[in-house]
Amino acid sequence: MSYLNIISEQKDGVCLITINRPDKLNALNRATIAEISDCVTKSGLDSAIRVIIITGSGEKAFVAGADISEFAHFNGEEGRALSAEGQAKLFDLIEQTPKPVIAAINGFALGGGLELALACHIRYCSDNARMGLPEVSLGVIPGYGGTQRLPILIGKGKAMELISTAGMINAQEALQYGLVNNVTTQSELLNTCMELAGKIMKNSPAAIKQAIIAVNAGFDKQKNGFETEINCFGHCFESDDFKEGVSAFLEKRKPIFTGK
Ligand code: COA
Repeated sequence: MSYLNIISEQKDGVCLITINRPDKLNALNRATIAEISDCVTKSGLDSAIRVIIITGSGEKAFVAGADISEFAHFNGEEGRALSAEGQAKLFDLIEQTPKPVIAAINGFALGGGLELALACHIRYCSDNARMGLPEVSLGVIPGYGGTQRLPILIGKGKAMELISTAGMINAQEALQYGLVNNVTTQSELLNTCMELAGKIMKNSPAAIKQAIIAVNAGFDKQKNGFETEINCFGHCFESDDFKEGVSAFLEKRKPIFTGK
């Protein structure tokens, strides 16, 4: 698939995905969702990639939401399909990607843009970022997982306030809420995310994959998180990475993990 709405760059074990519709504040239309989905899927399968970073192009926006012009005339059935397809194709996919996905929020993250960041495993933002779920101001609700993932991160009361007021919070408020883990200047955002990726890449990709499965299971009502953790823990002992990690420790050297 050739990409028209995103830029995908691979460097030092990281796939950097830049959503590239700056004239539309990187709003997510169907084509953009399909391209990010394709790139995340391929990066998940590529053993040379260990971390994925998603950001927006330009200085103003990460993603200013789902593309309003695309669903302006939808009926209920079309609305349901938009939500279901988007959730499966991109948002759930990101959450279940076996490699850490970092959202580098470089400006407005609104509606589907904040939902995209919420689906990522880790969020860093720049000090100009503003975040919110303004859907009710348009007569809809967040449909890409926002009503579910935001309360998990910031608590039900704050999430209800943000959703029902359609308001925005700034970077410092987002940090205080636990919505983002770190705030940097705009110019330092990607470097700081690359440093984070570097720390992650020192560790076993096979173990990180199991950790993602176990953590996600704790928020999945169909699963028992503790049982999943037991199984994932067991899986680790069957990996080359475990043998390498323990050998390297005993031999007082740095491990060379293959992710197998
Ligand atoms: N969908 C489609 N287009 C969007 C968009 C979205 N979610 N967000 C911004 N755009 C487009 C604007 O229509 C405009 O396009 P145009 O130049 O062809 O008219 C362009 O991006 C720039 O946006 P503009 O509104 O002029 O920028 P601004 O600096 O005045 O305001 C925002 C920035 C983010 C406050 C404003 O764009 C906004 O409220 N966007 C919608 C946010 C939203 O409700 N998202 C949830 C969608 S469910």
